[in-house]
Amino acid sequence: MFTMKIVLLTLLQLFVFTRCENEPKIIIIGAGPAGIAAASKLYQNNITNVKILEAENRIGGRIHSVKFGDAIVDLGAEWYSGGDDTDVYETIKESNLTEPTCFTQIFYHSSGKRIDHGIITELLNIFEEIQQVAVEAKEGVTVEDHIKEKYSAKIRERYKDNSEMLEFASDFLEVIRKEVTILHGAFSWGDVSAKSDHEEPAENNWLNWKGRGFKTILDVLMQNCPDPSKELPLEIILNKEVKIITWDDDEVTVECFDGSSYKADHVIVTVSLGVLKNRYQTLFNPELPENKKNAIEELGIAAVAKIFFYFPTRWWLQADLKSIGLFWTELDQVEFLQQFGTDKHWLLDLPIFYPVTNNPSVLEAFLGGKSVPQIELLSDDEIIDGIMLVLNKFVGNEFKNITKPTEILRYNWYSNPHFRGTYSYQTIQSRRRKVSAETALSEPLTGKNRKMTLLFAGEATNPTHYGSVYGALETGYREAQRLLDIYKTV
Ligand SMILES: Cc1cc2nc3c(=O)[nH]c(=O)nc-3n(C[C@H](O)[C@H](O)[C@H](O)COP(=O)(O)OP(=O)(O)OC[C@H]3O[C@@H](n4cnc5c(N)ncnc54)[C@H](O)[C@@H]3O)c2cc1C
Ligand SMILES: *[C@@H]1O[C@H](CO)[C@@H](O)[C@H](O)[C@H]1NC(C)=O
Ligand SMILES: *[C@@H]1O[C@H](CO)[C@@H](O)[C@H](O)[C@H]1NC(C)=O
Ligand SMILES: *[C@@H]1O[C@H](CO)[C@@H](O)[C@H](O)[C@H]1NC(C)=O
Repeated sequence: MFTMKIVLLTLLQLFVFTRCENEPKIIIIGAGPAGIAAASKLYQNNITNVKILEAENRIGGRIHSVKFGDAIVDLGAEWYSGGDDTDVYETIKESNLTEPTCFTQIFYHSSGKRIDHGIITELLNIFEEIQQVAVEAKEGVTVEDHIKEKYSAKIRERYKDNSEMLEFASDFLEVIRKEVTILHGAFSWGDVSAKSDHEEPAENNWLNWKGRGFKTILDVLMQNCPDPSKELPLEIILNKEVKIITWDDDEVTVECFDGSSYKADHVIVTVSLGVLKNRYQTLFNPELPENKKNAIEELGIAAVAKIFFYFPTRWWLQADLKSIGLFWTELDQVEFLQQFGTDKHWLLDLPIFYPVTNNPSVLEAFLGGKSVPQIELLSDDEIIDGIMLVLNKFVGNEFKNITKPTEILRYNWYSNPHFRGTYSYQTIQSRRRKVSAETALSEPLTGKNRKMTLLFAGEATNPTHYGSVYGALETGYREAQRLLDIYKTV
């Protein structure tokens, strides 16, 4: 018995020793969901010589949860729209961390009247039907042309005996356009391909985090939630912006803007498509192969703007405020710009204010479209003055005492050099090649001796779930698995 124990111990030590000897050095660039998912999977499988280098002074990337008002708000990803096939999802469900979000949109007319909810529901359902059969879209057609065609055919048919309704439904297409630019994060719905590889996850409930913020998922990934004693000791170095990755040697060298440099056997790059577009020519040495450059150039990424407002005196009466949708007539738009100046044009891109979960004094404005870069440059006062004009115009009749917000919170995703956009989408150009652009982007590169040195994860490398946190997680797991397949099967 005694000897048995010693033999076992020696064997174990030998095993541990050899494993440490062989343990690969891995560097992950970016501490967003993809990077953290990759690191945590490697750790869970006993590959622990892993460093994450992060340019920002915080982790999370495009998950950015900040205290505001009475709870935490999400400047980046807000609703988990994922499937039931990741471990994370299981933990989230079991731990009761989220709840499905019910979006009820109440629309107001630019004349200040509330629009009948039945009518809006009918039109949004038509839009929904078109979305659901998007697989039938033709290759080479933009989302704009596809929706316009399908939508007008449907409303012409449905309202052929009601000219007033037909006219309203046709004007409502503008609202749909604005919501579509938000959905895809594109500056124009003409930039997005109608046919796409995007697949809806099996279970999509738009889960919200009950006022605790999407960052809760990072705690789940790092295993410090629900049980903090199980936290993985991930090594994350903040304020480390990577400048050049030299990847063709046996070891990869990562040089940072602060002059420091790191060596590793493998590097997993998780920076956004926006960062790649902006920097791929100098970030990689040697430069990337042609198929990757094409993918980076041809895939799309632009931005949305989310702005949170805190009203110390809540002017909306019902505790369960539904979102406030804005329907403009063309004439009202012209008059509005004449009265308040064309620099207020960005307000016409704003389709909706949302209430915020567990945050009764906060409203969130959500907008997309060409104005987004300009909005990022506006001062807080200009933004507050602008939304006060719009709120008074649309809901001033219904709510008599609209007060001014005393605080505002937003984040410049488009101009921030560590993001350069919000989420990626497929353009028509990105779909013209045999291999999908996301797949091309996801393929690892090999250096000397055919050693796999440079790996790619991140939202835009997911062939079917790009654009989401869920999709980003999947790519992190995928690249971790790729490395585990090398080291754990021997
Ligand atoms: C406003 C907004 C709303 C969104 N809403 C939703 C939503 O409701 N639901 C949803 O599922 N998804 C949503 N998304 C998308 C989701 O946030 C992203 O798909 C996801 O976060 C992408 O994760 P990632 O790890 O691929 O990239 P990122 O989160 O961008 O992580 C990459 C990291 O790399 C870092 N980095 C960049 N350059 C360098 C460098 N040179 N050196 C070192 N580090 C660098 C960045 O700082 C960043 O932390 C939203 C995004 C935004 C911006
Ligand atoms: C990791 O190592 C620990 C301790 O050596 C061991 O108990 C565990 O089974 C290992 N896990 C995996 C996935 O290899
Ligand atoms: C889940 O959380 C909610 C509050 O967010 C609580 O009311 C409910 O009782 C919880 N359910 C369980 C099963 O713990
Ligand atoms: C609006 O404010 C005034 C003054 O504070 C108050 O007398 C009035 O009742 C308020 N009206 C509504 C509809 O809340």
